[in-house]
Amino acid sequence: MKKIFGNIINPINKHKTEIIKDGCLIINNKGIIEKKGKKVNFEEIKCEIFDFNDNFLIPGFIDIHTHIPQYPLIGKGKGELLDWLRKYIFPAEIKFNSADYAEKVFEYFCHNSLRFGTTTSVAFSSIHRSALKRIIEKNHKLRLFAGNSLMDLGEGELVKPMQHNLSVMNDLFQKSLNNAHFNYTVSPRYAASCSIDLMKNAAEFAKENNLYIQTHLSENKSEIEHILNIHRDYTNYTDIYHKTGLLTDKTILAHCIHLSEKELEIIHNTGAVIAHCPSSNSYLKSGIMPLKKYIQNEMKVGLGTDVAAGYTLDMKTEMRNAIESSKTLSYFTNEDHAVSALEVFPMSNILAAEYLGIADITGNLNEGKYADITVIQNRNSSEITEDILSEIIYGEDKNNLATFYKGERVY
Ligand code: GUN
Ligand code: FE
Repeated sequence: MKKIFGNIINPINKHKTEIIKDGCLIINNKGIIEKKGKKVNFEEIKCEIFDFNDNFLIPGFIDIHTHIPQYPLIGKGKGELLDWLRKYIFPAEIKFNSADYAEKVFEYFCHNSLRFGTTTSVAFSSIHRSALKRIIEKNHKLRLFAGNSLMDLGEGELVKPMQHNLSVMNDLFQKSLNNAHFNYTVSPRYAASCSIDLMKNAAEFAKENNLYIQTHLSENKSEIEHILNIHRDYTNYTDIYHKTGLLTDKTILAHCIHLSEKELEIIHNTGAVIAHCPSSNSYLKSGIMPLKKYIQNEMKVGLGTDVAAGYTLDMKTEMRNAIESSKTLSYFTNEDHAVSALEVFPMSNILAAEYLGIADITGNLNEGKYADITVIQNRNSSEITEDILSEIIYGEDKNNLATFYKGERVY
């Protein structure tokens, strides 16, 4: 058992955040939050104490889209998506043919995810069997939804025949069943890297095994044109994923910037999830996703760091950029696109947990869930104002002091 003291900020749902000043979380030996309440109410319980005083206890962040092999590449590439992939990213991902190198990058990735308070991450690995196998064997202390990139179309060393892609996918899925922190995720890279048959087979495999799927959609205007030139029988980009069976309520679609109303409707009807990656969208000059409109249309939207087009694993930066880019869009369109901290904060925890089917075990600090906790520094205010979520997102001194994953202090 352990007790953790601090000011508890607990997002309950889209609209409601519970705040317990001078709070206490009692964590049992399985790493589960057994009790939540005022510190004074639990004084008689004697156990190990982590006293974070006036600092804030918030749920561990959930990053719903990023790339492990690209972590060493932050800031190194430039240009727009297709050139950036060809010149910088694909050559760098080839290095994951060494499992030793992959392990080093992954350790660095895990350490920094936890340092920034992320306890669940949805990520692409490279195409390589040995790299992801090593990652699975590491039995890391971070909840991962990840898969090998599927690529059987285009040029270069990363592109392999369909059967090879399918066999790597099947092997790694089998391998992942031994790791309690790992959820194998079917990962067709994007429609420019995948044949129709590969996408159909990947969708079938996900369905048979009840797995999540991740891919990229509608990120860049030249990308869309390129893809509709390759797959000529389809009316729009979304239609390709829809007709191959890749759009399900367990599918995560990164970017979704330039969608038509028709495409939005298809995504809405299938229940697929949109990963909003505002830092990446700005870095590659891809565009600004109309977040407010998607929220109003009741689309499922979470946040992704999309490293290395995104330039940090820090979800606070992602939340800030989600808000700031929504204001930029308002300015340039003369329409109201601005979103608030209240709307964005739950996208980084409880809403993402719901979309990933893990809201029964994580996503907020309710009793009965794993103690996935991020401790945010509170240096300057003794009182908690109604702007607390905005302060956490924007505050200069709101560093992450500690992270707990399943009740264990991991940073
Ligand atoms: N589309 C296909 N692959 C990628 C990738 O690695 N990063 C981004 N941002 N978009 C992609
Ligand atoms: Fe991405």
